[in-house]
Amino acid sequence: MALPSLLLPLLLVSLLVSFSASATQPPSTLHVPVVHRDAVFPPAPGATPGGLLLRRHGADATHYTVQLASLHPTAAADDDDRLRSPVLSGLPFDSGEYFAVIGVGDPSTRALVVIDTGSDLIWLQCTPCRHCYRQLTPLYDPRSSSTYRRIPCASPRCRGVLRYPGCDARTGGCVYMVMYGDGSASRGDLATDRLVFPNDTHVHNVTLGCGHDNVGLFESAAGLLGVARGNLSFPTQVAAAYGRVFSYCLGDRMSRAKDSSSYLVFGRTPELPSTAFTPLRTNPRRPSLYYVDMVGFSVGNERVTGFSNASLALDPATGRGGIVVDSGTAISRFARDAYAAVRDAFNSRAAAGGMRKLATNFSVFDACYDLRGRGHATVRVPSIVLHFAGGVDMALPPANYLVPVEGSDRRTYFCLGLQAADDGLNVLGNVQQQGFGVVFDVERERIGFAPNGCSA
Ligand SMILES: *[C@@H]1O[C@H](CO)[C@@H](O)[C@H](O)[C@H]1NC(C)=O
Ligand SMILES: *[C@@H]1O[C@H](CO)[C@@H](O)[C@H](O)[C@H]1NC(C)=O
Ligand SMILES: *[C@@H]1O[C@H](CO)[C@@H](O)[C@H](O)[C@H]1NC(C)=O
Ligand SMILES: *[C@@H]1O[C@H](CO)[C@@H](O)[C@H](O)[C@H]1NC(C)=O
Ligand SMILES: *[C@@H]1O[C@H](CO)[C@@H](O)[C@H](O)[C@H]1NC(C)=O
Repeated sequence: MALPSLLLPLLLVSLLVSFSASATQPPSTLHVPVVHRDAVFPPAPGATPGGLLLRRHGADATHYTVQLASLHPTAAADDDDRLRSPVLSGLPFDSGEYFAVIGVGDPSTRALVVIDTGSDLIWLQCTPCRHCYRQLTPLYDPRSSSTYRRIPCASPRCRGVLRYPGCDARTGGCVYMVMYGDGSASRGDLATDRLVFPNDTHVHNVTLGCGHDNVGLFESAAGLLGVARGNLSFPTQVAAAYGRVFSYCLGDRMSRAKDSSSYLVFGRTPELPSTAFTPLRTNPRRPSLYYVDMVGFSVGNERVTGFSNASLALDPATGRGGIVVDSGTAISRFARDAYAAVRDAFNSRAAAGGMRKLATNFSVFDACYDLRGRGHATVRVPSIVLHFAGGVDMALPPANYLVPVEGSDRRTYFCLGLQAADDGLNVLGNVQQQGFGVVFDVERERIGFAPNGCSA
């Protein structure tokens, strides 16, 4: 009989082809271009770097999802609006700072999405809009993507992964809603589509939110790339292909260069020799965040004392303490007693180094300086080192803790760029991370920091 003998080789061939394809096809790493906001959206003419920083700082609370909102009050009580409001006007880009450049759908639409290690869901503004804010790249239109599929309510993808899934009674489609600490939100259809990356790399069937109702402070970005640890996050969705590890380097925000040498890579890359790893901790109250144990600070090569060790230690029972490594928050925040001890140590060292302290506070910053020394003498800026569990030290370059601000005399001053927190949520923000290669290695339960990591 001719039929089976014809079928068998064909079947074998197709099995072999698909085997060899899957054995060689998925590259071991996925490189995603990263741009800093200032490179894409040039600052308004005349805006000072300080003005930009204060403006961004005001938007920090935006990226925490609703689960965190109650633990993370949005506005700092001592925010100084008189100082912030002038720089707010005319600068509408208020959330997220580092964008990934991705394509979505087939044919693909280019999109700039905020990289957020503090949340899981990937979502994009989607036509038809009930409400969409202005974005710079074209809107994603699922009707023109041949690979777009809505996820039905009955699907385990709807019930299993979303904490607050809804159902569209008319279409039977799964509806998602995410809310962020400041009232920003996105709501729409949970769907799958392909994402497109450089070198013609496609990732099929990515679960994402197609947002028809979007409000808040994601101005200009097309949406958000959630890279936390939960089931819906991008690294979790591509873990089978690339492993549960990714890394990034967030480039110098003050260099206005188009190419800030920032990067985002999924998969294991050769380790920089200078990478120091500290254990990745899990907070049972917020299992999708990347926690590490911080054990202290040094200022001017001297260990900072005078605060309770418990302030920085993760307490699994209450979910307080520990420190979250976050790409979406600009300024690191520490328990108030720890912050105060660091600030006081910094102030006394700075005074000894000839730095002139200002009497005024700027926004949440209460240690601000004129870096021009008395009689134009050279000032000495105290060093700051963050100490993590496992003997890991993060020696911060001065640009990572001296934040430029604009005085009422239009001159640029510098503030100690850290802040106090009273809600038990300590965060290592992206100002302090800039220039470090950061490895999020869930597979080996560790987080790595490499100084001068962007150039590598
Ligand atoms: C594209 O592929 C080339 C050759 O394999 C590689 O050198 C390059 O880094 C890749 N680019 C990106 C963005 O992945
Ligand atoms: C993630 O998915 C796994 C397996 O599908 C499931 O057991 C687990 O409960 C999910 N976790 C969350 C937080 O939904
Ligand atoms: C996408 O996922 C669905 C359901 O899991 C599956 O039936 C389909 O073959 C997948 N498509 C691709 C291109 O992998
Ligand atoms: C607090 O931390 C310091 C520095 O790591 C250590 O020397 C000290 O023993 C700790 N105190 C307590 C009570 O754990
Ligand atoms: C600056 O803030 C500190 C508290 O952080 C406060 O004690 C001080 O009075 C403030 N100074 C001014 C001038 O508002």
